[in-house]
Amino acid sequence: MREIEKRRSIRNYLNKKVEKEKLMQVLEGARLAPSGSNTQPWRFIIIEAEETKEKLAMADHQQEWMVAAPIFIVCVADIRSRISMDTDITLNENSSEPELKQIIRDTAIAMEHILLEAENLGLSTCWTAWFEQEAVRPILNIPEDKYVCGIITLGYGDEKPKQRPRKKIEEIVRYETWQ
Ligand SMILES: Cc1cc2nc3c(=O)[nH]c(=O)nc-3n(C[C@H](O)[C@H](O)[C@H](O)COP(=O)(O)O)c2cc1C
Repeated sequence: MREIEKRRSIRNYLNKKVEKEKLMQVLEGARLAPSGSNTQPWRFIIIEAEETKEKLAMADHQQEWMVAAPIFIVCVADIRSRISMDTDITLNENSSEPELKQIIRDTAIAMEHILLEAENLGLSTCWTAWFEQEAVRPILNIPEDKYVCGIITLGYGDEKPKQRPRKKIEEIVRYETWQ
């Protein structure tokens, strides 16, 4: 609960490098995430180059604040964990493949592991996803059959925002049936 309660989306970062061991531990957190049939569809691209970060931030709804984060983790879901290479697939926001829902679901779990392990290590993150596939994929040479689930900014935070509101437990929990 400590990391769950303390975590915030952080959009201001110190100009301080993230230690390699901490980055690797955060990724280890993702590696151990559960997934349907243990398919582990997640792939991660670590971005540290300023020029690439700028391009990604521009593609991600011009969120310029992102660039101050020393690391971006681009989180990609690979449908090939479920559909063979023989079938041609192009994925985007309108795709109807049922498997796309499964790989997004599983990759999102791994992404949340990253957020929580980063918090445990004193690092800060923000999950961003204000982009379209066609805008982000070409920047990183990601093939059309992969789906970018989000870009996580990672670094040492330089702000302490208050907790954002959440629904009350009575609003989100029901017992035994829907009604
Ligand atoms: C799927 C997803 C996409 C998000 N995309 C963005 C984004 O593009 N830019 C941003 O600043 N925050 C983004 N956020 C962060 C949310 O705004 C934030 O989690 C929410 O307001 C609750 O605040 P908290 O994370 O500090 O508790 C995203 C969060 C999620 C889970």
